[in-house]
Amino acid sequence: MAVACGEQAAESRTVPRHVAIIMDGNGRWAAARGLPRVAGHRAGVQAVRRAIETAAQLGVEWLTLYAFSSENWRRPLAEVLDLTGLLRHFLRSEIAELKAQGVRLRFIGDRARFERDIQIDLGAAERDTAHNSKLNLVLALSYGGRAEIAAAAQAAARAIAEGTLDPAALDEDKFAGFLSTAGIPDPDLIIRTSGEQRLSNFLLWQCAYAELVFLDLLWPDFGPEAFDSALAEFARRERRFGARPG
Ligand code: FPP
Repeated sequence: MAVACGEQAAESRTVPRHVAIIMDGNGRWAAARGLPRVAGHRAGVQAVRRAIETAAQLGVEWLTLYAFSSENWRRPLAEVLDLTGLLRHFLRSEIAELKAQGVRLRFIGDRARFERDIQIDLGAAERDTAHNSKLNLVLALSYGGRAEIAAAAQAAARAIAEGTLDPAALDEDKFAGFLSTAGIPDPDLIIRTSGEQRLSNFLLWQCAYAELVFLDLLWPDFGPEAFDSALAEFARRERRFGARPG
């Protein structure tokens, strides 16, 4: 799939190293067509495939997708089963292709809440793709930013109690090492589809200096052009990381 680039040639603009996406609007996409919500989630998986391909083409090194939030468990059981069923199918049907594309997979979130077979497939997908380096794909599953920070605080407190960590040494970098994203660069750009303008508990620690782009389209309609226009918008932003303009 070729990406036709907008105003600025893709080669000459600043490409975010890490793009994270809040994929929103599957339900509305389905409702607009008189279809059940699951049809929207299925179309959402197609959009996931396109996003992975496009990220690799555009030179993005890290792509994080918010595929299942810790709050999503509160949806009706039938929808939770649809979403976990799609995840199971994705893990079984896509891994060979992702491996061939040079994608390295990693998962963040509370994987212990998923059924045992899914947990096994998650571990296998990470192991099978561990040597790939074309694109790092992080799927946030049963993920919540506040829970992640609380778990990191617990782990740091435990290390202090055991005497392996000096409290005075617990600076931002050290703390980040206790998060599930340890070793992953912070996102440069966070995209949210569906017109909603909030973070919904996504990467709360990591998004400190991320640029936010909100797109007025529903996730199943997200394709190469929308991805490219979000990157073009990112390239127009001036990032100062709190410093004064030079
Ligand atoms: C929001 O749509 C989307 C989700 C609940 C998660 C995204 C899930 C997918 C794209 C499919 C599964 C992905 C993988 C990788 C297997 P919504 O239902 O909240 O939409 P609405 O706000 O319009 O109701």
